[in-house]
Amino acid sequence: MKEKRQIRIGMVGYKFMGKAHSHAFRDLPFYFDTDVIPVLQAIAGRDEQGVKEAAEKMGWASYETDWRRLIERDDIDVIDIVTPNNTHAEIAIAAAKAGKHIICEKPLALTLEQSLEMLEAVKRAGVVHMICHNYRFAPAVQFAKQLIAQGRLGKIYHIRATFLQDWLMDPNFPLIWRLKKEVSGSGTHGDLGAHIIDLARFLVGEFREVVGMMETFIKKRPLGDMDIHLKGRVEGTAWGEVDVDDASAFLARFENGALGVFEVSRFSRGNRAGNRFEINGERGSIRWDMENMNNLQVYLEDDERGLQGFRTINCTEVEHPYASAYWPAGHIIGYEHTFINLLVEMMNGIAGGYSPSPNFEDGVRNQAVLEAVERSVQTGGWVSISEVLPSVQVQSR
Ligand SMILES: NC(=O)c1ccc[n+]([C@@H]2O[C@H](COP(=O)([O-])OP(=O)(O)OC[C@H]3O[C@@H](n4cnc5c(N)ncnc54)[C@H](O)[C@@H]3O)[C@@H](O)[C@H]2O)c1
Repeated sequence: MKEKRQIRIGMVGYKFMGKAHSHAFRDLPFYFDTDVIPVLQAIAGRDEQGVKEAAEKMGWASYETDWRRLIERDDIDVIDIVTPNNTHAEIAIAAAKAGKHIICEKPLALTLEQSLEMLEAVKRAGVVHMICHNYRFAPAVQFAKQLIAQGRLGKIYHIRATFLQDWLMDPNFPLIWRLKKEVSGSGTHGDLGAHIIDLARFLVGEFREVVGMMETFIKKRPLGDMDIHLKGRVEGTAWGEVDVDDASAFLARFENGALGVFEVSRFSRGNRAGNRFEINGERGSIRWDMENMNNLQVYLEDDERGLQGFRTINCTEVEHPYASAYWPAGHIIGYEHTFINLLVEMMNGIAGGYSPSPNFEDGVRNQAVLEAVERSVQTGGWVSISEVLPSVQVQSR
């Protein structure tokens, strides 16, 4: 059997997303027969003890204590960026200059301007690039895309999407990096909003204009352990200001005439990861809920009267995208498999010399919607995407 070309990965950061990506790279060749296969070559982190332990635990062959050293290495083909948002641009631009392919976590950057610089850098370098909007890669979401593309729902009129969480409601939860604008860019808006904007762009199409609102419910938080991961409390004596949103909501009009209603929050009690959408077309509707991610609810108007209603499709059959790589029908998959599916496309892109969607161009378009909503919150009126986004040349396929 011909030996497959190995694609040597260098990952920067190793916590939440570091774990998800490491697992996905490890499992990918186990399930998928791609032309090239990823190798867990090296990770980078600032704390030697921490990065060494992470490398051992997650199966990486080596480690570095400075991401710049990782980028300089000749035995690295791909840089995987799983660090906070304020580091994405610097790492990605340096990686592109060194000729490395790049997979970057979302949101692409702190600002639209920064994301455009990143797109420019990868285009100039001719490297393969992707952004990690993993929810697109749930088989049920891919199947929803197929139904829409086949015209099974007819013309699309509505999308309403939420991403609701409740981990931030304790006033003693500390001021972690996600709550500081200079590190995160925005709060729920860029964190959770970026995901549902991507789902909407994937399923419905491009945004035309938006109007939004944002709120910070708790404006000061204790300073303490900045590495607490979405739970924990600090009896602080020192307090810092929260300068990002706790919740964000906006209305949208799409280029194809559809209307959108979007809401993200970290103050929605009882919702742990309420990433949900409903899309209504002239001939049918679909609903999806991340916490039940194998299922797609489908309503088709062509069904016999009296039997009409939402049916639940368990998207684990061979007909459903990516599903046959895993288990027999009905044997469900989970959150971690969305990352594997996305990285399969990255491997295909590297083998074929193209940047699969979602790539940095999607990241820029996503950032434009985020920025348009923020501008609308400041001005109190509708903002069109063309006002904030200069024309971006399409290079993906
Ligand atoms: N796709 C998703 O569903 C999803 C989910 C969560 C987070 N994210 C994104 O992933 C990125 C990381 O988030 P996370 O939840 O993994 O954060 P985290 O806080 O769990 O981990 C961040 C990691 O980056 C490291 N780090 C920070 N600054 C660094 C620097 N200058 N150099 C090297 N390492 C540095 C930290 O030590 C840590 O290992 C963010 O952009 C976030 O928006 C995406």
